[in-house]
Amino acid sequence: MRLSIVTGRANPVLAEAIASALDIRLTSCTVKDFPDGELQVEVHDDVRGQDVYVIQPTSPPVSNHLLELLLLADACNRRGAGRLTAVVPYFGYARQDRRVKGAEAVGARLVADLLCTRFHRILTIDLHNPAIEGFFASHLEHLSAVSLLADALRGSVSRDSIIVAPDLGAVKLAQRYADLLNLPVAYIQKVRLSGREVSIRSVVGEVYGRSPVVIDDMISTGGTMVSAIEALLDHGCLPEITIASTHALLVSDAAERFANLTLQRMIVTDTVYRSAEESLPIETVSVGGMIADFLKRMHETDA
Ligand code: R5P
Repeated sequence: MRLSIVTGRANPVLAEAIASALDIRLTSCTVKDFPDGELQVEVHDDVRGQDVYVIQPTSPPVSNHLLELLLLADACNRRGAGRLTAVVPYFGYARQDRRVKGAEAVGARLVADLLCTRFHRILTIDLHNPAIEGFFASHLEHLSAVSLLADALRGSVSRDSIIVAPDLGAVKLAQRYADLLNLPVAYIQKVRLSGREVSIRSVVGEVYGRSPVVIDDMISTGGTMVSAIEALLDHGCLPEITIASTHALLVSDAAERFANLTLQRMIVTDTVYRSAEESLPIETVSVGGMIADFLKRMHETDA
């Protein structure tokens, strides 16, 4: 079975990097927008009987990218694809993993169900909540960018650094960074007030006089990170601040919010496509090589 890479419009740069690491060219396809907002997808190359990987993070605009992914799957299936894998480096809706007030939809479950209707398996990276794995009826491969990010951090951390989880949900993730970098951990108790605003209850750990490395699975509006950093500075942390996160959505006015802080480094991956934000000290670590290696192994093992 031949291996083929298809991309939607969410992150063609990453798809190109994966294809080039595998020494193949991207399968030709087009996605069009109709004036009424409908999408139309066409796969031009023959994918009959092939092992097809569709690369598409469900990043903003989340719902459009999700539908594009499902339409690409439909088009590939109709062209007789042998096996279809969704490569969703950033999985949107992951934060809607339970009912908090009792009246909400569980978006993460619905999206998992939708993907499983069209794909034989799904590959993703650093899910917001690893427990979501249980939502997938198809086989799920869950990779992590933590060791790539920890490698990038290694040169700039010192004995005075401390890994900080900006909320309780990030404590296990912080511990993984701390183990890799041999550093202590602190954490912050956060309460979410709205999609954009959070409030900090307390900072737990010996942060005084230390350089914080604040880590998270994702940065969206920046509210969590910015509030965490302000609280750390109030608690006597040094102003040399580093942040690291797998997924950098940086929506709304996130860039301006960060611009007011004394950030030394902001290390993220390319799971989500961003055009350059010159105002921030962003360093991007590519997950392209890691995904390509994994696809190669999956393809050879399951051929
Ligand atoms: C929440 O639990 C996540 O891990 C992130 O901390 C959060 O979703 C980031 O969103 P924002 O940047 O909008 O605060």
